[in-house]
Order: sequence, then structure tokens, then C-alpha cells
Amino acid sequence: MPVRSLVAVLVLVLASAPGASPTRAQGPRVIEITAERFEFWPSEVVVAEGEQVELRLRSDDTMHGFRIIGAGIGAGTNVLIPKRGSGYVVVTYIGDRPGRYTFECSRMCGAGHNFMRGVLVVRPQ
Ligand code: CUA
Repeated sequence: MPVRSLVAVLVLVLASAPGASPTRAQGPRVIEITAERFEFWPSEVVVAEGEQVELRLRSDDTMHGFRIIGAGIGAGTNVLIPKRGSGYVVVTYIGDRPGRYTFECSRMCGAGHNFMRGVLVVRPQ
């Protein structure tokens, strides 16, 4: 009997371990960004130098685009943000160079398209 209850306790401990999963804690920080005519929210994103983040971009209306000017992934590419209700697109980004980088919508989405931008700040360590 005592052995049996000890086994039960061990199983409980193991079962609760994934809740504090170290693999999840080590994954990139997720930053949710919503695009909506004609802005991004948040419009300012701050990451630390060397930090890897996962930008999850979704739209609250039509299809938009996303690119980070002059910095790593997304620069010069045309990442499409699916229209509302169609999920999100993921951009993995590493803040390898401190500075302020403009990100913008890269798909013509209406009259305010050219104003649809934000800033990505990479803070030096
Ligand atoms: Cu949103 Cu162009």
C-alpha cells in the first residue's frame, strides 16, 4: 500500500511538469501585432539586442503587408498578413543590431496605406 501511494505521487509530479515546461520558456517571446486601416497596434515594439522574438501579425480588416526597413527578416520581402478571421502570419526576428527600424505595410490597402507604419526598437544590452 505505501509503495502504491508513492507511485501515485510520482505520477502526479511528472504530469504537472509540462505546465512549467522549460522548452516553452526558452522559445522566442511572442509579440502580437494587429493591423487595421491604417495602423499597426502596437505601433512601437521593443526588443533587446540579441533577443529572438516571434511577431504574430493578424489583421482586423483587409489583407495587409509587413516589412521591416533595413533590418533582418522582413526587409525587402513582402510578408502578407491574411485578412480578418484567416489566422496570422509569423515573422521570426532577431534584434541583431541596436537601433530604431521602421516597419510598414507593404501591400496597397487603401488611401492611408502610406501612413501605415510603426517602429521596431532594438535596445542595446
Ligand atoms: Cu495596410 Cu497597406
